[in-house]
Amino acid sequence: MTACLITGASRGIGRAIAVKLSERDDIQNFVLLARSKEGLEETKRLMNPQKRVDIYSVDVTRFEEIQKIVDQVIRDFGSINYLLNVAGYAEPKSLLETTIDNWTQTYLINVHSVFFITREVVKHMKKTGGKILNVASTAGMSSRPGWLAYASSKAAVISMSQTLSDELAEYGIKVYCVSPGRCATELRRILAPDEDQSKIMQPEHVADVVNNLLSENGICLDGQNIVIRQQQQPSKPTEPSASKPEKKSDDPVSEVKKGITA
Ligand SMILES: NC(=O)c1ccc[n+]([C@@H]2O[C@H](COP(=O)([O-])OP(=O)(O)OC[C@H]3O[C@@H](n4cnc5c(N)ncnc54)[C@H](OP(=O)(O)O)[C@@H]3O)[C@@H](O)[C@H]2O)c1
Repeated sequence: MTACLITGASRGIGRAIAVKLSERDDIQNFVLLARSKEGLEETKRLMNPQKRVDIYSVDVTRFEEIQKIVDQVIRDFGSINYLLNVAGYAEPKSLLETTIDNWTQTYLINVHSVFFITREVVKHMKKTGGKILNVASTAGMSSRPGWLAYASSKAAVISMSQTLSDELAEYGIKVYCVSPGRCATELRRILAPDEDQSKIMQPEHVADVVNNLLSENGICLDGQNIVIRQQQQPSKPTEPSASKPEKKSDDPVSEVKKGITA
């Protein structure tokens, strides 16, 4: 019995990944975690009905509860073969606006919970081998003025993934890391409230890449930070005579200065 545990599965990228992976023949059981029970139920409704899907409404920073859930999943399925750490939190602030609460909450959800749930799962996964995938961000790869806590927390996720890829190799555990760019979700809405989300990458695009990484196609891609980013199309000039070629905006730093980067 193959079991796959996904955090942050109540909406956005986590939901899209759960739906996509449920189409696979090699995973029979899914365990979805997030706080919103309604969101988790909706994700379950969208998934392949032939799969077993257990939902747990839980805050990923409630470590005692997380430990009990991991133990329960092991009792139910005997192993956890896939762990996907997708849950994330963003409250973009500059240094001088950042409170201890903001900093702590960001790190608790984006970093501490990834450490804790990974450690609890690996206690079991090391007996069977398996795959772990962490969702970081392009924000963790270069400067993001105004997003101090979020960007640095995602840099930590990239670093943790690289270290764990080497550390857990002896158990047959592969560790993957993806860094999406701007993607149409509620979290992105917090970072860029005025953006037209129909023009940016959709959660399903990220889910397709994740599905590939976790298949045979991805066997050489663990331990690397895989960027998933849709290049922005330059808008058409209205006056051909006045047209200057627009700078291709795949540069996250110049993008954030314009206030629109993921
Ligand atoms: N969207 C982007 O542009 C973008 C770019 C790069 C990276 N990412 C990363 O992608 C991941 C998914 O985010 P998203 O864009 O899909 O955002 P989203 O739609 O807002 O989803 C965030 C998910 O995290 C869960 N979550 C947040 N805090 C939690 C907590 N304390 N306990 C349990 N679950 C919690 C939410 O569930 P509940 O609220 O129900 O608990 C939700 O399922 C995040 O790690 C994010 O940093 C997103």
